[in-house]
Amino acid sequence: MKKIFIYFSLTNNGDKVADFFKEKDYDIRKVISKCKYPKSKFLLMMIGGYKSTFNKKDKLLDFDTDITNYDKIVIGSPIWNDRLSAPINKVISLLDFKDKDLSFVLYSASGNAGKAKEKIRNLYGIDAIVLKEPKKNIEELTKIKDM
Ligand SMILES: Cc1cc2nc3c(=O)[nH]c(=O)nc-3n(C[C@H](O)[C@H](O)[C@H](O)COP(=O)(O)O)c2cc1C
Repeated sequence: MKKIFIYFSLTNNGDKVADFFKEKDYDIRKVISKCKYPKSKFLLMMIGGYKSTFNKKDKLLDFDTDITNYDKIVIGSPIWNDRLSAPINKVISLLDFKDKDLSFVLYSASGNAGKAKEKIRNLYGIDAIVLKEPKKNIEELTKIKDM
């Protein structure tokens, strides 16, 4: 069974999750946004928070939409204002997950990602897994050990 982890990350929590999946024989596809997010935490919160609140979709750099060879797809997104990030909003608008074994892994500071989970449940009928800052809290990765 071919597996892939498709994810976005700004501050490396997602990269930690990607390293974990790589060891479990997943292919890795990191999503790059064309939006240059600011270094300033305040501005980042304003811009990222606005985008996710209004369900905006970022333009992506060279994103490969071909997932035909994969049986299992895991999508990874940071939580922005309780919601999916704008780059991942774009990813899910581009990909057709029909007949795929689909999962979502979300990474947050401390929130439970209620609105993101609700959206995923409504769209795909599945429960997303939420990891709290996996870069710092390595033990959070045990939540995805059986994936
Ligand atoms: C714009 C923005 C909004 C955020 N909103 C939330 C939030 O609502 N709840 C939460 O727990 N964490 C929130 N965070 C923190 C991130 O979800 C968390 O640090 C995550 O692990 C980042 O993943 P990354 O390092 O892969 O980018 C926010 C971060 C940003 C940049």
